[in-house]
Amino acid sequence: MLKIAVQKSGRLYDHSLHLLNECGIELNNGNRQLKAGALDYPLEAYFLRDDDIPQYVYDGVADVGIAGENVVFEKKRELQILSKLGFGRCRLSIAVPKAMSYTSCQDLNGLKIATSYSNLLQKFLDENNINAEIHEISGSVEIAPGIGLAEAICDLVSSGSTLVTNGLKEVEIILRSEAVLVGRDNLSGEKQSILSNLLMRIEAVKTARHNKYIMLNAPNDQLKEIASILPGMKSPTIVPLAESGWSSVQSVVNENDFWSIIEKLKSLKAEGIIVMPIEKMIL
Ligand code: PRP
Ligand code: ZN
Repeated sequence: MLKIAVQKSGRLYDHSLHLLNECGIELNNGNRQLKAGALDYPLEAYFLRDDDIPQYVYDGVADVGIAGENVVFEKKRELQILSKLGFGRCRLSIAVPKAMSYTSCQDLNGLKIATSYSNLLQKFLDENNINAEIHEISGSVEIAPGIGLAEAICDLVSSGSTLVTNGLKEVEIILRSEAVLVGRDNLSGEKQSILSNLLMRIEAVKTARHNKYIMLNAPNDQLKEIASILPGMKSPTIVPLAESGWSSVQSVVNENDFWSIIEKLKSLKAEGIIVMPIEKMIL
């Protein structure tokens, strides 16, 4: 069995379980136990505090883990990033009271900065030759300036609403982070093969997320040009329609090019364009 560490509660929990579900792995944790087996898959999940996940994976208590890059880099454990998962996006930022005048990071000199990310903050301060005092606390970092514990903070920002509520403004982004699957390199043969299978499934889900299935009707005299902007997995599928002079075209389009391709298709007289999400995509 492959042992996977997942955040026990918090922002990554739902997304982590959802990703596993999309990979066909359903965890048997109805009443939120701390340990759960999977139905029909050789995997066992441990629900842990996110800051502990890098250490547990490093120690081999779990074989792999889903954690934010923020904790992975903060904990400085030598782990492999096996896959970037695309959720849990946030930034680790320095924020100061709204009223404070701030022009550059040199304004942080001499300040006391509260954070739970002292390693990452220290690295930023060193790289920028800033002399500031780090005050390490494990939670509720945003209230530190308001209660006179520090003059600035360094914490995760997602929507930014926690900063606003606490009268703070974001002044430096020191790390951009998302959820990743981390692991070690010395897994047994059997575990390694389960992990390869899991990674294949994760990649299939990720690739599908970034692509859309598109169907449209096109006049035959435009087919050549339409086909040239629709690569598809090999080439687009083109089927003649019952109405003469028209064909149905089916293809897969990457989300980054999606809107520009739609514009071009319309200018090439494509009609009845239908776009569908793709559930899995195995290349
Ligand atoms: C994080 C972070 C901030 C908040 C930022 O805390 O520490 O407090 O989210 O999010 P926002 O920019 O969308 O307001 P979280 O809720 O994960 O809990 P924690 O601090 O207890 O870990
Ligand atoms: Zn918080």
